[in-house]
Amino acid sequence: MKTQLLGFVSVGLLLARTAACQLAPVVDDEETDLGAGKGKGKGKGKGKWTEKTSNGVNYQCKCAPGDECWPDANQWQKLNQTVAGSLRVNLPPAVSCYNTFQGPLGNLSTYDAAKCAEVTANFPSEQYQINLPTAGLWTYFTGDTCRPTANPTDTCTLGYYGAYYIAATTEKHIQEGIKFAKENNIRLVIRNTGHDFLGRSVGWGSLVINTHSFQSIKIADAWKPAPGSTYTGPYITVGAGVQAITALQRLSALSPPRVMVTGECATVGIAGGLVQGGGHGPLTNQQGFLADTALEFKAITADGKLVTANAGTNADLFWALRGGGPAAFAVIVEATYKTFVDPPSSAVNLDITLANTGGSVDLLWAAIAKFHSYSPAWVAAGLYVYYEIFGPSLRVHPIVGVGKTPAELSALVAPLLADLAAMGATYTTSASTYPTFQALYFALFEPEGAGNSALTGGWSVARADVLNNGTAVVRAMRAAGDAGAVMVGHMWSAGGAGLPASEWAKSAVNPRFRDVVDKLITIVPVAGNAPAAERAAAQRTLTDVVDAGLRAAAPEGCSYVNEADPFQPDWQTAFWGTNYAELVRIRKKWDGEGVFYAVSTPGTEAWSQIEDGKWLCKKA
Ligand SMILES: Cc1cc2nc3c(=O)[nH]c(=O)nc-3n(C[C@H](O)[C@H](O)[C@H](O)COP(=O)(O)OP(=O)(O)OC[C@H]3O[C@@H](n4cnc5c(N)ncnc54)[C@H](O)[C@@H]3O)c2cc1C
Ligand SMILES: *[C@@H]1O[C@H](CO)[C@@H](O)[C@H](O)[C@H]1NC(C)=O
Ligand SMILES: *[C@@H]1O[C@H](CO)[C@@H](O)[C@H](O)[C@H]1NC(C)=O
Ligand SMILES: *[C@@H]1O[C@H](CO)[C@@H](O)[C@H](O)[C@H]1NC(C)=O
Repeated sequence: MKTQLLGFVSVGLLLARTAACQLAPVVDDEETDLGAGKGKGKGKGKGKWTEKTSNGVNYQCKCAPGDECWPDANQWQKLNQTVAGSLRVNLPPAVSCYNTFQGPLGNLSTYDAAKCAEVTANFPSEQYQINLPTAGLWTYFTGDTCRPTANPTDTCTLGYYGAYYIAATTEKHIQEGIKFAKENNIRLVIRNTGHDFLGRSVGWGSLVINTHSFQSIKIADAWKPAPGSTYTGPYITVGAGVQAITALQRLSALSPPRVMVTGECATVGIAGGLVQGGGHGPLTNQQGFLADTALEFKAITADGKLVTANAGTNADLFWALRGGGPAAFAVIVEATYKTFVDPPSSAVNLDITLANTGGSVDLLWAAIAKFHSYSPAWVAAGLYVYYEIFGPSLRVHPIVGVGKTPAELSALVAPLLADLAAMGATYTTSASTYPTFQALYFALFEPEGAGNSALTGGWSVARADVLNNGTAVVRAMRAAGDAGAVMVGHMWSAGGAGLPASEWAKSAVNPRFRDVVDKLITIVPVAGNAPAAERAAAQRTLTDVVDAGLRAAAPEGCSYVNEADPFQPDWQTAFWGTNYAELVRIRKKWDGEGVFYAVSTPGTEAWSQIEDGKWLCKKA
């Protein structure tokens, strides 16, 4: 219990957003001379596999450092030439805090007091970690093998970070990286901002391609639609590395200001994992997922070709890139989205703590149940609600009324406040109004932190579940809290309050999201370097207790691939429902060999990460 509480405290702090998401300078790449002459592999690599047996099952595994089929130093040097010298030996972010880095190419002296002080001070900063070439902001899946430390004699190993990375600045660098990974049969990871909750932007023994430098932005008024599409309105075209904050600032500077669908966190990328998982945010009631607003992608496929994907050209790939799963079909290099009028908007913050319920945990949960019972009505009225449950306490920051006056919003929230008063609970609220939704967004959506370690799960609750089984849903939430989970809720229905239903089938997200009223994230704190038994226990808590309870209480719901447990039972149906079979067909067409990989994406059934998540293998 104590450790859970400790973990809980750190996640609680994270949720309170004490660490800033402000912009920090880009950190220079670590220069080393490890690349040349020290490679261990002997084989030429091409088409070779590493054979392994684990728990009595025979596997063929992608080549990893130390394997005979791992490319030798000459081959890496050749790759470096084809990518104009942008290949680097990878080092974990906090390597400068350690005397020795015990890497796959041998030991290296790495201690540097000034750099260590810098990384230690900035480790909780999102933007600092985003700018690092391979960092994973949620550290669990990195293995936490080399966190900042004051003790330089501690051990620092590579953990689950990639072995090499390409700091790509041109499409050719990405193409050459894909070809090299394919020809040499090595694991390939695409890394944009590193925000991933599921560890999909890190990967043991991999070659990483970093897309962060693709920062182009074009904003224009009249889209020329592809055959099969009719939209001719304003749009924004962004490079693969553009973050929401940059695009939003550019759009808000227009006269009149415009806006696009992004996540609730402004530092997440908008052309990488977000759109490929779907991408929900405060405008999702009105405009659907970010994927619903996509007009075109430029992408590099598994055979290294640069292609256009829109409603008229490569329409199957276009559909799959819209919510069909990150790092599964192609590498996006550029994405084009619709933009929208940005209306005056209002917000209410609401807090209920144990102090508001006279210390009664039962009354607090009764208040949460009452709050939750409003989700169908609020979502139907177009509200977006972001809330956190921990402690226990309920922190709703904020309830958003896009295009609503303070009076309109207040009329929607007042019935809940009356209910709370009638049941004997007090609360704290504050209301505010803004000339645009974006002004609200930047004022009220709080910066988030980085560097925490946890397992992430979650389940989305359907309207029917709240109406038919609402008491059981909240009972499952309480049980999740009792099991040590922190919860983050997002009340919306994807396009339910604005987007015509004829648009819904145009993206690959699970159709069930159109009837969802609350998308919950569950977080179970656990250190990435905890003993294997402790990590396994945390995974069981998440899968078999926390999320299992939510799944049972909300059987009409589904699961959001970017914020969920990839090891949940029947993830195929949970993530994509009736779209799954078609996504597998498209995956086989565009990446039949499995050049790309992200856990629990379409068609990955034969693949697993064996020996404690290391070698990426398929059953032989
Ligand atoms: C603090 C926080 C808040 C969040 N809020 C929201 C939210 O409001 N709404 C929401 O929908 N999600 C939200 N998310 C989840 C978010 O959608 C995922 O973390 C998403 O994967 C981030 O994508 P990225 O490209 O920025 O990150 P990365 O970690 O770099 O990449 C994520 C995945 O996408 C793949 N990928 C990245 N770039 C490309 C590319 N160009 N081509 C092909 N594959 C690529 C990676 O290989 C990896 O599998 C949030 C996450 C965090 C950490
Ligand atoms: C790739 O080439 C650049 C430029 O010559 C060099 O700085 C870098 O160390 C090389 N990378 C590797 C892995 O050898
Ligand atoms: C690397 O350093 C560690 C710790 O000092 C030591 O145990 C190990 O033997 C060294 N490995 C090599 C290959 O020198
Ligand atoms: C309501 O939740 C309970 C508890 O999880 C579950 O057993 C039951 O099947 C659910 N009923 C409906 C109608 O969803």
